[in-house]
Amino acid sequence: MATVTYDKATRIYPGTERPAVDQLDLHIEDGEFLVLVGPSGCGKSTSLRMLAGLEDVNAGRIMIGDREVTDVQPKDRDIAMVFQNYALYPHMSVADNMGFALKIAGTPKAEIRKRVEEAAKILDLTEYLDRKPKALSGGQRQRVAMGRAIVRQPQVFLMDEPLSNLDAKLRVQTRTQIASLQRRLGVTTVYVTHDQTEALTMGDRIAVLKDGLLQQVGSPRDMYDTPANVFVAGFIGSPAMNIGSFQVVDGAAQLGQTRIPLERSVVGSLTPEDRGHITIGFRPESLDLVTQAQEGAIPVKVALVEELGSDAFVYGDLVGAGAAAKDIHSGAGDARVIVRVDPRRVPAKDETIWVSVRPGERHVFSASTGLRIAV
Ligand SMILES: Nc1ncnc2c1ncn2[C@@H]1O[C@H](COP(=O)(O)OP(=O)(O)OP(=O)(O)O)[C@@H](O)[C@H]1O
Ligand SMILES: [Mg+2]
Repeated sequence: MATVTYDKATRIYPGTERPAVDQLDLHIEDGEFLVLVGPSGCGKSTSLRMLAGLEDVNAGRIMIGDREVTDVQPKDRDIAMVFQNYALYPHMSVADNMGFALKIAGTPKAEIRKRVEEAAKILDLTEYLDRKPKALSGGQRQRVAMGRAIVRQPQVFLMDEPLSNLDAKLRVQTRTQIASLQRRLGVTTVYVTHDQTEALTMGDRIAVLKDGLLQQVGSPRDMYDTPANVFVAGFIGSPAMNIGSFQVVDGAAQLGQTRIPLERSVVGSLTPEDRGHITIGFRPESLDLVTQAQEGAIPVKVALVEELGSDAFVYGDLVGAGAAAKDIHSGAGDARVIVRVDPRRVPAKDETIWVSVRPGERHVFSASTGLRIAV
């Protein structure tokens, strides 16, 4: 087992100007499950492939434990990778698929058999060892791909969207299996996904990337409670956080009829670049239904209610905000305010509800830099 360290690791693909991964600094603890997450093209796979040795590092370095591996051949890095497209050999049995890398490495037959049987037991594949991949379900094939990595007893597991070929239900099941398996084996793991729910549920820590730049690293709780900037705020959480650009007037943030009083320190942090504006975020679950009379109550006209059984979400528009209504949206891009409501008492379409942001559950960001302002 080992730690993994990216030290200003940079990848610039030939013929491109902007780095796909730009000076990545990231330290992963021994035995830790770290999830790299971000939108398509942000550099997740490139980061993982640099660690695997499948992609050149143009600047900076990569360490596994105390050993610098920046220029070490992939086969000498003592890692095992599980890809999205886990391509099993169709003509080989499950056991042969799982043991293939060991066979190539010249491991004695008895040792291979032992490790394959152990892995099969862990993965619940014992009864399928003699089958061919085509006679397995998608989830079973995925487990064979995991088994192929486990038998190698590597220092580090690398996984690139290993669940994306599975249907929604199997994905949820398999993600808990992988997470608990990783904890049992205690092998340092770097796991790539674009799915923030997967990141929140699986990782000890999450690293969010955007345009090749690391935005924030922290525990799922950190990322959810104290997003470092507007991007992370909008990316982590489902449905996404409501994010609005408010005008600062007389010590309060104002948008249409909505007035949210601000701490003095927040008002004091405004710079000329902010042009008198501040960005405020609040999650759908941080809003309470209140009466119109309540100070600071925000009127929302219900456009749509999404009922999920355990939860219900109102998608609505700010009332009376006029042209300013476009200044608030959910981080996911919907031009609407999202409010979680009691699923047993959902409002009707076109009704106006009044909501207020629960104290301590609002997020304040600089309008010009997008960075979190500590309050
Ligand atoms: N071989 C390549 N040559 C040139 N550019 C590349 C190459 N591979 C990837 N890129 C670019 O590098 C950036 C990062 O790509 P990468 O595959 O790491 O993204 P990703 O985060 O894994 O995305 P996805 O979620 O879609 O898999 C993208 O802009 C991509 O177009
Ligand atoms: Mg990728």
